[in-house]
Amino acid sequence: MPPISTDDIRQAYLDFFQSKSHTVIPGARLVPENDPTVLFTTAGMHPLVPYLIGEKHPGGNRLCDVQRCVRTQDIDEVGDASHLTMFEMLGNWSLGDYFKEEAITMSYEFLTDVLGIDKKMLSVTCFEGDNDAPKDTEAAGYWMNAGMPEDRIGFLPKKDNWWGPAGLTGPCGPDTEMFYWIGEGEPHGNPEVNDHEWLEIWNDVFMQYNKTESGQFEPLTQQNVDTGMGLERVAQVMQEVDNVYETDRMKPIMDRVQRLAPQSDVRHERIVTDHIKAATFIIADGVKPGNVDQSYVLRKIIRRAIRSAKQLGIETDGSFCAQISDEVVTQYGHIYGYIKEQEKMIADTLAQEEEQFGKTLLAGTKQLEKVMADTTGSIIAGTDAFHLYDTYGFPLELTREIVSEQGFTINEDDYDIAFKAHQDLSRKGSEQKFAGGLADHSVETTKLHTATHLLNAALRIVLGKHVFQKGSNITAERLRFDFSHSEKMSDEQKKEVEDIVNKAIDDDYPVSYHLTTPDKAMDEGAIGVFGEKYGDEVKVYSMGDFSKEVCGGPHVARTGMIGHFTLKKEESSSSGVRRIKAVISGGPDAIEVATEASS
Ligand code: ALA
Repeated sequence: MPPISTDDIRQAYLDFFQSKSHTVIPGARLVPENDPTVLFTTAGMHPLVPYLIGEKHPGGNRLCDVQRCVRTQDIDEVGDASHLTMFEMLGNWSLGDYFKEEAITMSYEFLTDVLGIDKKMLSVTCFEGDNDAPKDTEAAGYWMNAGMPEDRIGFLPKKDNWWGPAGLTGPCGPDTEMFYWIGEGEPHGNPEVNDHEWLEIWNDVFMQYNKTESGQFEPLTQQNVDTGMGLERVAQVMQEVDNVYETDRMKPIMDRVQRLAPQSDVRHERIVTDHIKAATFIIADGVKPGNVDQSYVLRKIIRRAIRSAKQLGIETDGSFCAQISDEVVTQYGHIYGYIKEQEKMIADTLAQEEEQFGKTLLAGTKQLEKVMADTTGSIIAGTDAFHLYDTYGFPLELTREIVSEQGFTINEDDYDIAFKAHQDLSRKGSEQKFAGGLADHSVETTKLHTATHLLNAALRIVLGKHVFQKGSNITAERLRFDFSHSEKMSDEQKKEVEDIVNKAIDDDYPVSYHLTTPDKAMDEGAIGVFGEKYGDEVKVYSMGDFSKEVCGGPHVARTGMIGHFTLKKEESSSSGVRRIKAVISGGPDAIEVATEASS
């Protein structure tokens, strides 16, 4: 008998790959450790990046696991048949061991032999090729050898058949994706031809490239395989239902929502189900609702769930969300013991947020009605929408939803600008959490922050383009900058770096920023720790032609405001990483802060 239940599929996957000499490793937390560039773990490969680029994994070079993943970019899609905020990804990896042929053969064996899926229900896609990498006829060939008919193999461009890097740089490569027929009648074609009739269930990525900061794809010394199968989607297939909410572990949660709801609306029921499930796992991994970063995402999904619950006529007096999380724990607690153990804390956290939101909702709705009444025309000012967020905790989506019911739209560009400025400020509070590492927002730290950019640029001139920021920590007294470079710097090199920075200060370059997307920032040659996945806008700070770096700021308005730069110490930080400590002196007591470039 093939595995049918979610629990059995999960186990069958691990058993199968274990039988193929893979070590089963534990999934990682949803909040990535040691990686400030993304908010959540978005794929099974994410915690494995060091091993994909060459570090030895204690489990060997064949691994498999189940990884809980959160994809914030999918939140808006939630409510349809297949998108989830949090899902379970089944993955197997080859770290420089097997490659395309064996990966494809094993995938096909698992799908057709272990799951027993009828071959005619499957199709695949491969990479069609471009300037960076050739058409993957090799992968297609292995599919045909395995038994896949040629007309079931499509070829698609990078947008579809290329995966990674998880951030903006790192391991990536062409992939081959597997699909299950969800169309009417006899299965035919493939996603190149009739995309909407196929549901993606699994992705095998052939990680043979490293995307560099300059946007190049250079071959990796180690050829890896990274795969990800969506457990909920495979359960949907195996259980012959037409959406993930009907599967055995999700359905009881949705049933619970329906039992509590006086009205029915499938989209809202799904949103509540998905969001409270995701919130349960996110809280269990140590996040509390708040106004920045992971906390904000958590707050957003809890509040959206409550809004949807209200649309269903449910009373949300503080006890609703916890009733749903109770069901989540019932469905998943035997697999994820830590959610069971923290059941009470999760319920309390949800209850508190629900109560608080109840109060702000009342006050905020009043405020919003006032704003709408005072608005001439149909566009609500971005600053008003931001005020609703900042003061009443209204996520933008919520404000958008409410005002659209009355025929209004929001000036979202202005909202984004206000939001970014707010984020920058809050970030400064969370010391060392972000690349900027700014502990406060004083005159001295602002100057030192700008000096750090000059230092980064000078190091790249003196030592080479392999230098990238690995860490930064700024106090009112000094800057500390960690960067990729393996040798001790010579006295001449240190002197040269110091001179270049002081020359850049003397040149008194104007400093300003512009907002752009992470991709465009890379294209225009900006360096820096590339942004959180969340939010697709980054700030690029330019200091004349001397430095261009992605960063939240703040910075002084001209480099001349920094004063004199002195390199105090250069030492090893960790393997392949050096650390510089430097101070500044003699700059003005009052500074101006760099602003947005007028375009
Ligand atoms: N990392 C790949 C994905 O997320 C497997 O699709």
